[in-house]
Amino acid sequence: MAKLRLGVNIDHVATVRNARGGDTPDPLRAARIAQDAGADGITAHLREDRRHISDADIEGLMEMLSVPLNFEMAATAEMQSIALRHKPHAVCIVPEKREERTTEGGLEVAREENRLAHFIAPLREAGCRVSIFIAAEQRQLEAAHRIGAQVVELHSGAYCDAYHEGRFEQAEAELAKLREMASFGHALGLEIHVGHGLTYDTVSPVAAFPEVVELNIGHFLIGEAIFLGLEPAIHEMRRLMDEARGV
Ligand code: PXP
Repeated sequence: MAKLRLGVNIDHVATVRNARGGDTPDPLRAARIAQDAGADGITAHLREDRRHISDADIEGLMEMLSVPLNFEMAATAEMQSIALRHKPHAVCIVPEKREERTTEGGLEVAREENRLAHFIAPLREAGCRVSIFIAAEQRQLEAAHRIGAQVVELHSGAYCDAYHEGRFEQAEAELAKLREMASFGHALGLEIHVGHGLTYDTVSPVAAFPEVVELNIGHFLIGEAIFLGLEPAIHEMRRLMDEARGV
């Protein structure tokens, strides 16, 4: 099977920085270490309330990165104009408000097709690869395809939560849903990514889905970095992903 891409999400380096309001730890330094450690991309979410990543971080990332930036953002006019100014390699549209979410936490695309189709069209025209972060539900995948998204990122939070809370039957059921929907989305012609909540304990079965091409992982890696350092934490995740693919 082809090697998987690993996108490292550096939001929580900014969370720690912002807890004190100074300059450290610097998310750009984390991005540099991650890319040197073999990350295939850097993911950063500019939230409307700027609770972690800042506008200056996005500017800095666009200047310094040699790997692609995956810019996560809500479907708002402000975020669209920031994305159009920077033209990152990829944008991933995520929900930020409760009413924008499906029951499982991804973006409610099916109910907002028209608005989202108009929202992503200029991003695609600007050359960004548009990804939509959705729950592993057939109707969300079909809607993402209809609005012209090239990529969907399937939300693995329900699977990971169930696993780490010891609800293993539920975890298996969530995993089966992710597997089935990865295959369904691939058949529609969508590129399949997976992310949210992945850890060393949960990554391997997801990495083994043949249709998946990218995983986006943040919180666990930044947490492990406290104990191991960021580079070894990424190397271990990479090793598990490669092992699951047999590469
Ligand atoms: N993918 C998307 C779309 C996300 O919003 C997040 C969380 O910011 C992640 C992946 C990474 O999730 P985690 O930090 O739990 O690994």
